[in-house]
Amino acid sequence: MLATEKSEKKPQIKSLDTLFIQTYGCAMNVYDSSRMSDLMQEAYGLRVVNDPVDADVILMNTCSIRENAENKVYSELGRYKKIKDKRPDLIIGVGGCVGQQEGDRIQKRAPYVDIVFGPQTYHRLPEMVKEIRRDRVRVTEIDMPEIEKFDHLPKPKVEGLTGYVTIMEGCDKFCTFCIVPYTRGAEISRPVEDILEECEQLIEAGAKDISLLGQNVNAYRVEGDGEDVGFADLLHLVGGLEGMERLRFSTSHPMEMTTELCEAFAEIPTLMPYLHLPVQSGSDDILKAMHRGHKREDYFKAIEELRLHTPDIALSSDFIVGFPGETEEDFELTLDLVRKVGYDSAFSFKYSPRPGTPASKSEDDVPESVKDERLQRLLALLREQSRERMEQQVGKTLDVLIEGKSKNEGDLRGRTPDFRIVHFKGNPRLVGQTMPVNITEAYNMSLRGELIIEN
Ligand code: SAH
Ligand code: SF4
Ligand code: F3S
Repeated sequence: MLATEKSEKKPQIKSLDTLFIQTYGCAMNVYDSSRMSDLMQEAYGLRVVNDPVDADVILMNTCSIRENAENKVYSELGRYKKIKDKRPDLIIGVGGCVGQQEGDRIQKRAPYVDIVFGPQTYHRLPEMVKEIRRDRVRVTEIDMPEIEKFDHLPKPKVEGLTGYVTIMEGCDKFCTFCIVPYTRGAEISRPVEDILEECEQLIEAGAKDISLLGQNVNAYRVEGDGEDVGFADLLHLVGGLEGMERLRFSTSHPMEMTTELCEAFAEIPTLMPYLHLPVQSGSDDILKAMHRGHKREDYFKAIEELRLHTPDIALSSDFIVGFPGETEEDFELTLDLVRKVGYDSAFSFKYSPRPGTPASKSEDDVPESVKDERLQRLLALLREQSRERMEQQVGKTLDVLIEGKSKNEGDLRGRTPDFRIVHFKGNPRLVGQTMPVNITEAYNMSLRGELIIEN
């Protein structure tokens, strides 16, 4: 096409004012979405709106972890198409893990999608939008570049009192059921200085509870200049920053629970006593078939070591029921592991084959009704445990970070160090402070208490 023709045909470009982002998936995606909105605000002055109907740009940040992820994206896109039929200037982008996985298949099926991008390329969003507005072309950007996207992102913002910092990306573990290594790429750790700087910025902006994020944070490692910094070292550095109040991390893998890491909870006063350590199954045969890289005994050892130093540490996990070949005996070993460990909370899933993963080549041979039944039995046990652990809090005095007003009139809402929600009466000017609260009642999901000192 001739350049002149192109410019003659170019439509009148309306200014971009508003952005809508729909986020699915894990904490990394939540973090990525907030960075996308920062980027688009900086580049185009876009304001975030809560209704896609009001948006000039709609971005979907997708997740492929579970069944039907792709179909859910297409049906959601169908809704956005209706908006675009009325307003052809609307820009629609699909990012995240489905974007990465599906690539330009998305635009073949949904040609009204302007941009497809992945978790490693969203720093280029402003440029992609520019290209689209200039040339009205479709853009797909899903390579996994070596360059650090983090160098291209604006400073993070704090929402409320919590802040998030991605410290590593990707996964090299290749559990046989999991899509993440294919969508997020290889494990890459960010430089220590960048992480410290980002944490300092968050603290300065008012963050009091900071979480370090990654698919496998305990695989964190940077080497260079004779220096070798592992995850436990990083925790000591970050935890010791001036003004750091509460530090957490997610997610860690049982295979890399080093002694240093087990001790870190006791050694670093700002590191909160809460650990999400997914185990998936309690059967060695299933753990092996899942390629998890450890046995149930290793998991028990890690928990024992953690509790040796931090007896009250709250534990949570992820479980999969109905993995190919899982027998009743295997499943009972999972129940047995849960009984032995004692969890405060957990996420449980029915296995679903994800296209492209090794496990998807095995027959999905546990019938749906059996998966359902196992899930219910597991959930019942976990609920019982979680309730018990909640009850154990009654009578304790806990340091509660006051996050804001509760939905109940006149109440405040805060968090204990081990991340439980507490409601209590208090003056809203206490928001942002950490105060001792005496716990008086336990519910399934939250606690009720009384401030020790009303000031
Ligand atoms: N990196 C984390 C997990 C990320 S995915 C870790 O290794 O712990 C979050 C959870 O989704 C997993 O722990 C697993 O329980 C679940 N999951 C992943 N793939 C799944 C699949 N194909 N079917 C069912 N659940 C799955
Ligand atoms: Fe998936 Fe396993 Fe990697 Fe976790 S460790 S992201 S479950 S492959
Ligand atoms: Fe989902 Fe991707 Fe996170 S598949 S769980 S959004 S890494």
